Amino acid sequence: MTSLSSAPRPVTGRHSPPLTGTVTVPGDKSISHRALIFGGLATGTTHISGLLEGEDVLRTAAALRQLGAEVVKDTNGSWQVTGNGVGALAEPDDVLDMGNSGTAARLLMGLVSNSAFTTFFMGDASLHKRPMSRVSIPLEKMGALIISRSGGRFPLAVTGRTLMPIEYELPVASAQVKSAILLAALDTPGLTRVTEPKPTRDHTENMLRHFGADVTVTDLETGGRLIEYQGQQELTAADIVVPGDPSSAAFIAVAAAVLPDSDVTITNVGLNPLRDGIFITLEEMGANIEIMNPREQGGEKVGDIRIKGGELQGIEVPPERAPTMIDEFPVLFVAASFAKGTTVMRGLHELRVKESDRIAAMAAGLKTCGVNFEELDDGLIIKGDGSAPKGGGHIETHLDHRIAMSFLIMGLATQEPVTVDDGRVMETSFPGFVDLMGTLGGQITPDNQP
Ligand code: S3P
Repeated sequence: MTSLSSAPRPVTGRHSPPLTGTVTVPGDKSISHRALIFGGLATGTTHISGLLEGEDVLRTAAALRQLGAEVVKDTNGSWQVTGNGVGALAEPDDVLDMGNSGTAARLLMGLVSNSAFTTFFMGDASLHKRPMSRVSIPLEKMGALIISRSGGRFPLAVTGRTLMPIEYELPVASAQVKSAILLAALDTPGLTRVTEPKPTRDHTENMLRHFGADVTVTDLETGGRLIEYQGQQELTAADIVVPGDPSSAAFIAVAAAVLPDSDVTITNVGLNPLRDGIFITLEEMGANIEIMNPREQGGEKVGDIRIKGGELQGIEVPPERAPTMIDEFPVLFVAASFAKGTTVMRGLHELRVKESDRIAAMAAGLKTCGVNFEELDDGLIIKGDGSAPKGGGHIETHLDHRIAMSFLIMGLATQEPVTVDDGRVMETSFPGFVDLMGTLGGQITPDNQP
């Protein structure tokens, strides 16, 4: 694992020719975490191909090893995970370091909450600021004991107990919280019921089925969903092919959409309907997007996406769509900066508690780049005239990979180059981002290179 103990590495995106070519993005981050976790719990050996080998997922791999699973990377880049069955985790002999990963942190807190030992968790400066009480509260209701810093923040310790099932209504639409409860429910006798106010990514539910368990999902009249899980079912090893991450594909899609005459195809992208909001939104803005070869792979929808550059129009993004594109708003803000007219993006309180306060971090950078916008508590209203913003200046990324990549994409089409203060954070979710953009013609370079 690379470490951020080395010096920050500024990176610059420069005005580029139209992007052309065909690429594949690294594996889906959410599915990769879950593939390792379920593989590490199931009896038998799970073979995973296409796993995202980014920092966040490597944290989950390391933590699972500490918890007694066998996690091995093969020479061909695929992974083998062997678990000991539900309820058979081993006590780690050291703190679990979750780095920058909120997903690893929250899912693993759920996982260890009915173990027979105490697990200590820590992370980086960004993770230590993030709210964990959204996970601690339901886990404590189930019977776990959690000692944390004020506000429920990291570092914290989870003492596992024999848990009771709960009926829990999520106060925020969060797949991480839903998944933490479902992971705690795995070895909890009885029926655990979780209601989410709006449907969120359902990779945990899909993976439970893939590993042979029964999970019941009911659409509610309120627009939300009820997920029910009967604890103490066996999980059996099942091979997984991880599709490309739509959240990573989104950066390329926006770059191609805002650079006139671009023509880019991204193959093998995950198109789970609870993840595809960015592509629907870009299409509504007038982007030329075509989904080719739609197919199903291991219980997940997958396809190839072709994007051609052109003009974008401002639109109002329906707030209820937010959970299906929650990680894509930073790069959508970039797209909206090039659009003609006003783009209204609201209902985004959750962006304030991601790897950074993404509304504030994006607002600061957009201001530096000369974009005309209004910051709201729960979103941004961006007013464009259809021409490229000025760009220029140095952008603070606040240990946030998506802020870094969003502004490098911006720099490909602004008049002046855009420099981000630290490119190392991109390893979190998109190793090889700079090189991959280079193969399409995107001019992104570390600042010590010409
Ligand atoms: C994720 C859920 C989302 C998302 C995160 C990954 C997951 O977080 O932002 O990058 O894999 O469950 P929330 O659950 O906080 O919405």
